[in-house]
Amino acid sequence: MSSVSIDHVWRRFGTQIAVEDLTLDIADGDFLVLLGPSGCGKTTSLRMLAGLESPTEGEIRIDGRIVNDVPPGERDVAMVFQSYALFPHMTVHGNLAFGPRMRRENRAATAAKITDVATVLGLTQLLHRKPSELSGGQRQRVALGRALLRQPKLFLMDEPLSNLDAALRGQMRSELVSLHRRLGITTVYVTHDQVEAMTMATRIAIMFEGKLHQAGTPATIFDDPANIRVARFIGAPRMNILPGFLRHDGTRLVADVLGHSMPLPHALRCRDPAALLRAVSIGVRPTDIALQASPSGDPLTGVVEFIEPMGSETFVTLRIGEHAVVARASGRTRMTLGERVPLRPDPEFVYAFDLETGTALLDRSGLQPVSVSNRLASA
Ligand SMILES: Nc1ncnc2c1ncn2[C@@H]1O[C@H](COP(=O)(O)OP(=O)(O)O)[C@@H](O)[C@H]1O
Ligand SMILES: [Mg+2]
Repeated sequence: MSSVSIDHVWRRFGTQIAVEDLTLDIADGDFLVLLGPSGCGKTTSLRMLAGLESPTEGEIRIDGRIVNDVPPGERDVAMVFQSYALFPHMTVHGNLAFGPRMRRENRAATAAKITDVATVLGLTQLLHRKPSELSGGQRQRVALGRALLRQPKLFLMDEPLSNLDAALRGQMRSELVSLHRRLGITTVYVTHDQVEAMTMATRIAIMFEGKLHQAGTPATIFDDPANIRVARFIGAPRMNILPGFLRHDGTRLVADVLGHSMPLPHALRCRDPAALLRAVSIGVRPTDIALQASPSGDPLTGVVEFIEPMGSETFVTLRIGEHAVVARASGRTRMTLGERVPLRPDPEFVYAFDLETGTALLDRSGLQPVSVSNRLASA
């Protein structure tokens, strides 16, 4: 059980800044996902937690103790890498038993733990095979098993699922989540995959070019992105961004976009009054656009330009003047190319970003989160 505190940490390689002034607190029992595109400094950050890399500046604390100069072996952390380093001459059982044996753990207790870990990871039938007789996914599960047998203070995982095929990746995601629930070991998990982040994290920290842009729960990151880069990185297909304006009509904010006026919920506030006077970027997620006419006023319409059926849902690219907007429809909706259809963005999930800085302009803290039980109550 541990908490981690990263305090104004920098890591430079010569003139290159890999991690820039990172400040991040990880609470005991968190499953923190460090998310960002390749090269943004995730692995470097993780290696600094493991002690494999030292910060150029700043402090790292584990359970309140500064660990900057504590060697990896004395940090009680277990790290799982993207490339799983197994002993090729040992069986799966041998690989799993190696660590406990080196640590001189009780043999009977180790045997029982190996049985449990093997069951959880689906390795029971494979205990007598050598790594060369395993698929990539199976090898990765052995690597995870070794880390699990440690029961360390801290789990550090660097893209551990990226070599697996899609089906196994999905399965391993839920395995890791339920393992984390059961063991409660603070985990820092690095990935560039926003789906992994959204599905596994208790908190996400999202980085671009060495800098932390936002840290929060998956719901906060998705529903209240701090800036346009976070907004565009999370969610597939990506959030639509259109040029527009924000104004106040005396009672509420209105977003003007594509020649259309959208009154926004009263609870939304604009953080920067000066933004009401200049062009902004208006954002709407494809999943927040209904292909229906609005109940009043002239409908916003677009021409169907591209149809992507996914089965349960269909993503449609609509041409509106010189702009293209992606919207989601039910997979059963029938559409034809060139057809003109109405579209209605959900005003509650309209976003606005500063054109220059990309900062989110709408303060959404007044909005009530929609829970299923709220919906039941109001039904
Ligand atoms: N040992 C190193 N020497 C020089 N540059 C490095 C070293 N390790 C990482 N970098 C650079 O630091 C940046 C961040 O790298 P990394 O932490 O591996 O990113 P990520 O894991 O997010 O892909 C990259 O530009 C990378 O080239
Ligand atoms: Mg990396």
